Parts: sequence; structure tokens; C-alpha cells
Amino acid sequence: MDKPDTTSLGAAPKVGGRDKLFGERRERIDDFDFGAGTAGVFDDMLDRSVPYYREIQRMTAELSADYAADGTSVYDLGCSTGTTILNIAAQIPPTTDVRFIGLDYSPEMLEIAAKKLGSTSFGRPFELRHAVSTGCASSRPSPARG
Ligand SMILES: C[S@@+](CC[C@H](N)C(=O)[O-])C[C@H]1O[C@@H](n2cnc3c(N)ncnc32)[C@H](O)[C@@H]1O
Repeated sequence: MDKPDTTSLGAAPKVGGRDKLFGERRERIDDFDFGAGTAGVFDDMLDRSVPYYREIQRMTAELSADYAADGTSVYDLGCSTGTTILNIAAQIPPTTDVRFIGLDYSPEMLEIAAKKLGSTSFGRPFELRHAVSTGCASSRPSPARG
């Protein structure tokens, strides 16, 4: 049996099981989806299959945090398990009044994100929306902080 994974993806805990989705020979390869099977191992899947995933997370968080001004919202379109939101939040001073909005069309991903963001250590206002993103947001962007 696999040992529980206690590692983290930056500020975000790595949640779920070890990814073995394509570990067995299959007669047919169905279309990839972001349902329960994928969501349950997603953190491990990204960590082990996306080259430099942790570095990408670190850079995304650092760059995004520059735009997090008081009274603004940070949107993550396709937030999956909430890893990026947690990493961005860790780069923003706790005194900055920022709200996080994660949007995803997979309820299973949002369920895991809710658990990760619901931990008391997150401590920021957030909202997770089950929605399909069909294009770019057109509202005025926040200015970068000096
Ligand atoms: C590759 S994952 C995102 C990974 C995430 N950026 C990270 O590094 O942790 C893509 C996510 O976007 C969601 N998704 C894909 N297309 C979508 C759409 N049109 N609307 C909403 N969610 C979508 C999927 O359910 C999945 O959770």
C-alpha cells in the first residue's frame, strides 16, 4: 500500500492518491477528463508529469501577487484543486484585502479545492464556482504594485 503523501506544492498541500491512471494496459484509450478518477490523483499527476511544475507554480504566484491590490479579486479560471490559489495567497501580505475566486467545471476538482482552501491556515475570503469558462474576462485589470 502507498504511504500517505505528506509533501506540498509550495504553500499548497499535495492532496489525494498516487497517480496510476495510465499504469495499466488498456484496450481502448478514452478521452481524458477531469472527473473523479483524475481529480483524486491530480496533485500527484501534475507534480510528477508537468516539467518544472513547482517552479511554474512559484513564478505564477509571484507574478500574480503583484496585481493583488486592496479591494480586488484574484480569479483562477480552471482552478482544479486550488493549488495555484494557495500559492498566490502565500505571496500576498495578510493585511492586503483580496478575495479569491476559483472557477472550474469539474465538481470533483472543486470538492478537493474546497477542502484545501477550507483549512484554517488559508484564512482568506474565497468562493469556488462551478462554471464553464467560455472566454476572457473583460473587466478592468488591477494595476501592478510599484
Ligand atoms: C490543467 S488543469 C489546471 C491546473 C492548475 N492550473 C494547476 O496548476 O494546479 C485544468 C482545469 O481546468 C478545468 N477546465 C478546463 N476547461 C474548463 C472550462 N472551459 N471551464 C471551466 N473549467 C475548465 C478542468 O476541470 C481542470 O480542473
